[in-house]
Amino acid sequence: MHSSCSRNRRPVLAKIILLAATLATLRAQTPSLSDGQQAYERFRAWISTQPLTMRGSGGFSEQQSNPMLLKMYRAYLEGHGFTSADIDAQIELLHARTRELDAQHWNDYFAAKNPAFNPHPNAFLIEMVKGRPPGKALDVAMGEGRNSLWLAQQGWEVTGFDIADKAVASANEQAGKLGVKIHTEVTTIDAFDYGENRWDLILLSYAGAGPGAGPIERALKPGGILVVEAFHEDALKSMHIGGSLFKTGELPHMFPALRTVLYEEPIAKPDFAPKPARVVRFCAMKPESD
Ligand SMILES: C[S@@+](CC[C@H](N)C(=O)[O-])C[C@H]1O[C@@H](n2cnc3c(N)ncnc32)[C@H](O)[C@@H]1O
Repeated sequence: MHSSCSRNRRPVLAKIILLAATLATLRAQTPSLSDGQQAYERFRAWISTQPLTMRGSGGFSEQQSNPMLLKMYRAYLEGHGFTSADIDAQIELLHARTRELDAQHWNDYFAAKNPAFNPHPNAFLIEMVKGRPPGKALDVAMGEGRNSLWLAQQGWEVTGFDIADKAVASANEQAGKLGVKIHTEVTTIDAFDYGENRWDLILLSYAGAGPGAGPIERALKPGGILVVEAFHEDALKSMHIGGSLFKTGELPHMFPALRTVLYEEPIAKPDFAPKPARVVRFCAMKPESD
């Protein structure tokens, strides 16, 4: 129950102050961003404060084409003194250069001096493949390939793809240094050809729900597993998150053709955040008799 209006306003006020501070820092740190990058990073800073009910569980390309979200974003920009023409121009840039801006954001993220992520393979992945014979693995939105490289070292035949070309190039370079082979593509979650009954393992490590249930359920071989780790929406209470979030119990429902092997929502150290937060971990198998 809400006890008073003024109490309810406090978190909103805190959010506004935090958002203003984020935007100010962004402006101060990145004076040479192009108009497109500024429009993108401004939108990303805003979306990372929005609750899951507002932003939806899709990635940037879904978010920036969601009319309801854009209406809210317009109102936010108006409130911050942007003219209608400015707002139209910013939103046009987001639409026209979605892929390029997304790739640039992630290339810059990985190239930063101290990117705040765990460079080691994901611990849940290691736990879930333990004892499984290596087969064909797909690493969706592989980033710099920390998981692809580890899987390849364990004898898996790995394919990974990502929108961020420089991150993929870095994964290939590292594979050469380690003396392992990985197949890579620079492409998007929507454009990749997942195939049918093709993979013994599909990994979504901080990659949202990837292309969603249909393509993943079709693409797994019978007996193959899907492994997912991502942020739970609760993580928003303590940090800003631009990417996909999941509600309590959402993942097992999202993949009805798969049998859940393990599902948990612990407070843990996320691979892509500097402090503990709630994460979701899901491992599910495509039934043999499918
Ligand atoms: C949080 S990182 C996770 C990287 C990697 N899976 C890992 O766990 O190390 C998210 C990744 O998703 C990629 N990405 C974002 N949008 C994408 C899209 N539409 N298609 C393909 N990759 C995308 C980014 O480039 C980035 O590498």
